Amino acid sequence: MSPGDAEPRMGARFGHYTLREVIGRGGMGQVARATDTRLGRDVALKVMNLDVATHADYRARFQREAEIVARLTDPHVIPIHGYGEIDGRLYLDMRLVEGRNLAQLLAMGQLEVSRVLDILGQIADALESAHRAGLVHRDVKPSNILVDPRGFTYLVDFGIAATPGEGDVTGEGEVVGSAAYMAPERFGQSPRADARSDVYSLACVLYQALTGSKPFPGPDTAAVIAAHLRTPPPPLRRRRPDLPVALDRVVARGMAKRPADRPATAGELMRAAKAAMAAPAPAPAPVTGPPAPGVPPARPVPRSAAPRPSARPATPAARPHPPQAVRMPQPAGPAPTAASPAASSAASSAAHSPTSTRWLLLGAIAVVVFIVLLIALVLG
Ligand SMILES: Nc1ncnc2c1ncn2[C@@H]1O[C@H](COP(=O)(O)OP(=O)(O)OP(=O)(O)O)[C@@H](O)[C@H]1O
Ligand SMILES: [Mg+2]
Repeated sequence: MSPGDAEPRMGARFGHYTLREVIGRGGMGQVARATDTRLGRDVALKVMNLDVATHADYRARFQREAEIVARLTDPHVIPIHGYGEIDGRLYLDMRLVEGRNLAQLLAMGQLEVSRVLDILGQIADALESAHRAGLVHRDVKPSNILVDPRGFTYLVDFGIAATPGEGDVTGEGEVVGSAAYMAPERFGQSPRADARSDVYSLACVLYQALTGSKPFPGPDTAAVIAAHLRTPPPPLRRRRPDLPVALDRVVARGMAKRPADRPATAGELMRAAKAAMAAPAPAPAPVTGPPAPGVPPARPVPRSAAPRPSARPATPAARPHPPQAVRMPQPAGPAPTAASPAASSAASSAAHSPTSTRWLLLGAIAVVVFIVLLIALVLG
């Protein structure tokens, strides 16, 4: 709310709503838990600051939010019950999500990778529905991602969405959206946004959800914008060396500076992220020769499977790492062959076995008997 605005009081009536409690405040107004007295249900009521109703561009944008969302039927897009103006304030009546937004979940601690991929996979579904309808969200960020206690996820705040190519509703050079997640093409003289701008924002959220920090945590907005424009995507593995290189590549591709270098859809980004985690760890390179003197043989470095602190337990079915293949220990030296010293020593030990000694003894006895018989014959 702007300073001096008399905010609607909690407990008071606001049109046919009774305001119960403030859920949170954003740049444009506040979201409150409220009771719709006509229908007797609790809803989330976004009540805009007084000054935005006087802003013709914003009124148009707000109107568009409700219309856009009304056209979308994806279960992961927050259902809008109604919208309008009460006491000079614009409001939006939506399903109340009894849960937490992703920013709050991240503040509680590192999330399991499988949980991050599950949450953002659902957001990708919502975005793909919007994009198929020709709409761009333009404000994909953690506080606009709501997760209910069963893990069902909603994308909210299509308030600054616009159809591709029509330009920002503000029309006054204002940067709409949150700079931390905004694609490079959103800045500059002729900013534009299309589905791939949302893909970029989703990749920024993915990076943050996996590492706990924003990709470009500049000291101020100007530094953040400059980084989006010029600094290469930060390597994911610098903060999470336990994650596969393939996932690093997926995030970097999602945050490519040129829209054409990004995945074409949000779904493609998240499917690639899931595939990168599902792929087995690359096998160690084969050892082609004996190790150099004094150099121990190379060993495969296993991916860390140590559990990270998690806000919620991960489901066993969705573990971040597939189990490592069990490798049987290999003999240190080459297998013995017939020509090897080991083989000849085996042959020589076979020649002196108890069986052959017995045959030698029998042969000697036969010779002695033969000689005795011969002498007896000569003498007799
Ligand atoms: N339908 C909803 N059910 C429950 N909570 C909601 C709902 N919609 C929004 N919220 C929560 O209300 C709070 C305020 O939202 P709001 O959109 O006004 O601000 P924001 O997204 O935090 O910031 P910004 O104004 O910069 O976009 C946020 O915590 C948001 O997660
Ligand atoms: Mg919001």
